[in-house]
Amino acid sequence: MSITRRTALGLVAAAVAAPVPARASAPVPKIGMGTWITFDVPRQDEAARDRRVEVLRRFFDAGGRMVDSSPMYGMAEDVMGYCLPRLGDVPLTAASKVWIPAPAMGPEQIEASRALWGIPRFDILQVHNLLGYEGHIETLRAMKAAGQVGEIGITTSHGRRHDDFARIMERDDSLDTVQFTYNMDDREAEARLLPLAAERGLKVIINRPFQRGALIRRVAGRPLPDFAAEVGVTSWPQFLLKWVISHPAVTVAIPATSDPDHMSENMALLSGPMPDAAMRARMLAAFEG
Ligand SMILES: NC(=O)c1ccc[n+]([C@@H]2O[C@H](COP(=O)([O-])OP(=O)(O)OC[C@H]3O[C@@H](n4cnc5c(N)ncnc54)[C@H](OP(=O)(O)O)[C@@H]3O)[C@@H](O)[C@H]2O)c1
Repeated sequence: MSITRRTALGLVAAAVAAPVPARASAPVPKIGMGTWITFDVPRQDEAARDRRVEVLRRFFDAGGRMVDSSPMYGMAEDVMGYCLPRLGDVPLTAASKVWIPAPAMGPEQIEASRALWGIPRFDILQVHNLLGYEGHIETLRAMKAAGQVGEIGITTSHGRRHDDFARIMERDDSLDTVQFTYNMDDREAEARLLPLAAERGLKVIINRPFQRGALIRRVAGRPLPDFAAEVGVTSWPQFLLKWVISHPAVTVAIPATSDPDHMSENMALLSGPMPDAAMRARMLAAFEG
């Protein structure tokens, strides 16, 4: 879809949807939500879109705030614009990304995303997978200075990008947030990105906490360790997710789901004890065993 067409679609969406205020005051709860694939639902499938409304309703009812999307996620931002007016006044922390090679096209893409969501502004904008970072970060800095976005940052989901990513984290003082992958199977971030984020005071958003669902499929059928109850965990998805959010440098993880019951299952983790370092090691050993 061309930018021009996206913008036009965005204007239409904004015209039919009442703007929903975006807020970013108190710290976000440690579970947010992603929208890649799970929210890529075509306009004609209203039943499926209404199911996403229910996913979001469960999310906000359970205390959730941060929703992450990107212009790269097909119709996901359009679906956000469908869902939000149907939910009333919700405490949304809206996070999206800029993802286009030409930095000159960044502002237009961001505006198209904003119009699709139907919100006054984004709370968080990030450079997706570092694509066009040098140019886009200038745009994001200027938008932040003008009050057009709350926080700015960078994302990746590729281990091979960690060297570039860490170099930017070390030298770019304008960053507020970083987003990368961390889960029980992909722990590369422990070596450098997580400690560096803590040292630099950066908020950390974790993508792929279930490795696109692969980890859940891997443990299916295995009995849950008895000690899981000690940290308020009653299922494998909760076990995997609680381990991620209990890393001290993690601000929020953003699991994606298309299923309202899965959303409730994940959000139940916001209450209950948080595993300490010893418990995290025990959980990892149980997963690997
Ligand atoms: N470079 C980047 O910036 C980047 C890259 C990758 C991802 N992300 C962001 O991170 C988000 C999360 O990553 P992801 O979507 O790749 O994968 P993920 O969150 O690791 O896994 C999503 C999968 O887990 C399943 N799931 C979730 N909760 C479940 C539960 N309680 N029980 C059973 N299955 C469950 C979902 O299936 P159901 O629908 O059946 O629940 C879905 O297939 C993305 O949506 C996106 O917003 C960003």
